[in-house]
This record gives sequence, structure tokens and C-alpha cells, in this order.
Amino acid sequence: MKYIRWNEELSVDNPIIDEQHKELFRTINEFYTAIAEKKNKLATQKAIEEMENYIKTHFTSEEIMMKNAGYEGLDQHLNEHQFYIDKVQDLRERYEQGRLILSLEVTNFIKDWITNHIMVTDQKYKGKI
Ligand SMILES: [Fe+2]
Repeated sequence: MKYIRWNEELSVDNPIIDEQHKELFRTINEFYTAIAEKKNKLATQKAIEEMENYIKTHFTSEEIMMKNAGYEGLDQHLNEHQFYIDKVQDLRERYEQGRLILSLEVTNFIKDWITNHIMVTDQKYKGKI
């Protein structure tokens, strides 16, 4: 698994969210590039921060749409978002403090989790928000 790519199978039939997912993948790919190309700490840190910020921006806007639509699966969905935010935050903090060596295992976790989340959990609100 290398770069993460958006495809029609991942569509949630909401053009705003689909566009945000594509942008999210772009920030994840930048993070992957920083590790694969062994960029320096500052550049890598910047890539993590951008990814983390965009994850938060995207999750917030998805959550607002679910709330506005009265989506019944909101609580479970929020828990999943929080889990991922905590993971990424922890990863950034440990990296900043020199307590974490970034590897492809880390990027694979980031990519696999979000792909699975979009394919399973996000698909549940398809047509509802
Ligand atoms: Fe989501």
C-alpha cells in the first residue's frame, strides 16, 4: 500500500463530503511522502500538523451535517472520529518529543483506518445527509 487514492466506491453521494475526503487523502499522502522521502523533522512535523488540522476540519463539518439531518447513528460515529483524532494527536506529540520513529507501519495505520471508516461507517449515512 502506497498512496491512498479516492475512487467512486468511496463516494457517500454528498459532493461536499466527497471533496473533503479527496482533500483529506491529499494531506495523508503528503504525510506519507514526508516519511517515504525521509524529509527532515520540521517538514515532517508540518505534514502531520496539516493532516491533523484537516482531519479535525473535515470531521467537524461532517458532524454538523449529520446533526442537521437528525442522523440516528451520530453518537457511534462521533466516537469513531474521536478515536482517530486521539490517535493522530498522540502520534504527533510523540513525534515532536522524539519518542516515536515514524515508519510505514504508522502511515499504513493512518491510511487503513480512514479507508475503512469511509467504506463502512460513512457509507451508513449515504442518502441521509
Ligand atoms: Fe466520518
